[in-house]
Amino acid sequence: MESYLDASVEIAREAGALLAQMAKAPHEITYKRKSDLVTDADRRSEALILERLRSRFPKHAIVAEESGEKKSDSDYCWFVDPLDGTTNFAHGFPVFCVTLGLAYRDEVIAGVVYDPMREELYTAERGAGAYLNNRRITVSKTARLAESLLATGFPPFANNHELNIQYYYRFTQLTHGVRRPGSAALDLCSVAAGRFEGFWELKLNPWDKAAGSLLVTEAGGRTSDLHGGPFNLRGEEIFASNGLVHDEMLQVFSEVLAGSSGVTRP
Ligand code: IPD
Ligand code: CA
Ligand code: CA
Repeated sequence: MESYLDASVEIAREAGALLAQMAKAPHEITYKRKSDLVTDADRRSEALILERLRSRFPKHAIVAEESGEKKSDSDYCWFVDPLDGTTNFAHGFPVFCVTLGLAYRDEVIAGVVYDPMREELYTAERGAGAYLNNRRITVSKTARLAESLLATGFPPFANNHELNIQYYYRFTQLTHGVRRPGSAALDLCSVAAGRFEGFWELKLNPWDKAAGSLLVTEAGGRTSDLHGGPFNLRGEEIFASNGLVHDEMLQVFSEVLAGSSGVTRP
C-alpha cells in the first residue's frame, strides 16, 4: 500500500517538473471542442505518467484523460489527469496540477495532487490522513455558511452553465465569496487544507476528483452529490465541504434548484 503512494508521488513530481518547465515556453494549443483546450504539455505529461505506471504496475487498469481507458482484470485502477487546469496553463495563469488517484473496486485508496508552481504536494491514503508537503492537514472549523469561502468550476464547453451560475449567484450573496480557480483537483485540496469551506461542480470526470475526494475525507471533510446522496467516483457531480457547512449548503442547492424551472442542467 505504501509503495503505491510512494510511486504516485514520484511520478507526479516528475510530471509536475515537466509542466513547470513547459510553462516557461509558448504552448501548442489545439481544441477538443469549443473552449475545450489541450496543449502539448497535457500529452507529454500523460505519456510520461502512463509509461511509468505501466512499467511499475503492468496489471493495473488505467483511466487517463487524453488517452482513455486501458482495461484489465485487475481490481486496481489508476485515474490520471496529467494537467488539471489546462486553460489556466495555456493562458500563463499559474494554477494547475498533476493528479493521480488509485482506486480498488472504484473506492479511492491513495491519491496525490502536485502543484509544481507552489511546490505543494498533497497526499492521502485511505485511513491514514491527508498531508500537504508531509504535514497533516485538516478541514476548516468554520461552521457558518456566512463566514465561508467557497469554490466551484464550470466545464470547458458551452451551453451547460445556467444552473451552476444560479448556484454561484446565490452562494456569492450568502458567503465571503465563491472562487473559480480552474483546477478541480486543487479546489478539493483547498477544502482539505482548510482554505475553502466547500467546493462543488456539476460535470467532472473521475480523474478530476479521484485523489481530491480522498484528500477531503481524510482531512475530516465530507463528500456527497448535490442532493446529499453518496459521492460516486464515476458520477458527474461532486460536493465537498468541511462537513460543518454541508447541510446548510445542501439546503441552498435544493432551494435554488426548486426555483430554477426552465434552467437546463448540464
Ligand atoms: C478542468 C478543471 C476545471 C474544471 C473543469 C475541468 P482540465 O480540467 O478541473 O477547474 O472546472 O470542469 O474539466 O480540463 O483542466 O483537466
Ligand atoms: Ca481535469
Ligand atoms: Ca486535464
